[in-house]
Amino acid sequence: MLVLGLETSCDETGVALYDSERGLLADALFSQIDLHRAYGGVVPELASRDHVKRMLPLIREVLGEAGCAATDIDAIAYTAGPGLVGALLVGASCAQALAFAWDIPAIGVHHMEGHLLAPMLEATPPTFPFVALLVSGGHTQLVRVDGIGQYQLLGESLDDAAGEAFDKTAKLMGLRYPGGPEIARLAERGTPGRFVFPRPMTDRPGLDFSFSGLKTFTLNTWQQCCANGDDSEQTRCDVALAFQQAVVETLTIKCRRALKQTGLNSLVIAGGVSANRALRTSLEDMTAALKGNVFYARPAFCTDNGAMIAYAGCQRLLAGQHEGLAINVQARWPMEQLPAL
Ligand SMILES: Nc1ncnc2c1ncn2[C@@H]1O[C@H](COP(=O)(O)OP(=O)(O)OP(=O)(O)O)[C@@H](O)[C@H]1O
Ligand SMILES: [Mg+2]
Repeated sequence: MLVLGLETSCDETGVALYDSERGLLADALFSQIDLHRAYGGVVPELASRDHVKRMLPLIREVLGEAGCAATDIDAIAYTAGPGLVGALLVGASCAQALAFAWDIPAIGVHHMEGHLLAPMLEATPPTFPFVALLVSGGHTQLVRVDGIGQYQLLGESLDDAAGEAFDKTAKLMGLRYPGGPEIARLAERGTPGRFVFPRPMTDRPGLDFSFSGLKTFTLNTWQQCCANGDDSEQTRCDVALAFQQAVVETLTIKCRRALKQTGLNSLVIAGGVSANRALRTSLEDMTAALKGNVFYARPAFCTDNGAMIAYAGCQRLLAGQHEGLAINVQARWPMEQLPAL
């Protein structure tokens, strides 16, 4: 089954062709980062308008790259939520219009299920059951995964998501959007031990997270340094390292707890923050000590992309699921509401 996947939940237009027999045939992405950078974050209306401009050229591009014709496509998968409603509507309308014109089924995919299944596109995919840490711009969740659609939420952020904390902290320190890669880049040159920041909510039981206090702690430290006349590049790197280490160690402590609680030793990390090298190394060390493994996607498939949507949609289509012609998108959509395969 050849599936065209469309992703438009936020500020990336992602398109891909996934074949159930041959695997991923092509994928193309247009990132709107430069468009939103001047505003320090995503402007929803600008995002929607840009998706309209990029969608059809990207579909033509992946067809060309895969050497396929439109008539070869068996079904279309698109992101139906959660995300920015206007942006989601662009992908949903496009998918439903093409599906109607080509007389093929369409299916709306849950964006976080897409992220969660992205490591399945790699050479050594995880096998069920596993614990998943979803760390993206909008979500920080620990989920027990027993199969596609069999999700049990174990814990989540009570305030900022991990990616959001990276982005907001970077903005407060005068860094460019998106802040995650900027902080990671500065942290590489940071002096270990110069600053030590708190590991929020690790001193009490449970699997929930809170990153908003850490963001304020980081801002206060940076402002104190600046007030003392030290706003040097090295100090910026040292603060970035302390912040990143606090996030990484907090996530690692909670992942270890989740593995112990569930009795599992397989961990999947997904979403934009799973591209962070320090986080990967820390989780690799932690799971190795438990004689387990950690799985993640290539960096391009950690952030938003069409490949993960094509893959997730394909699994559900193969199981016989698809939708009518109505265009339905959801800004908020708990993943536990998804039907099991
Ligand atoms: N190397 C990195 N280190 C830390 N954070 C990173 C890194 N690379 C990307 N990020 C962060 O990942 C986030 C983007 O990830 P993603 O595209 O998965 O989120 P989103 O789609 O905006 O949110 P959601 O998937 O929850 O709707 C941003 O917050 C960005 O700063
Ligand atoms: Mg995302």
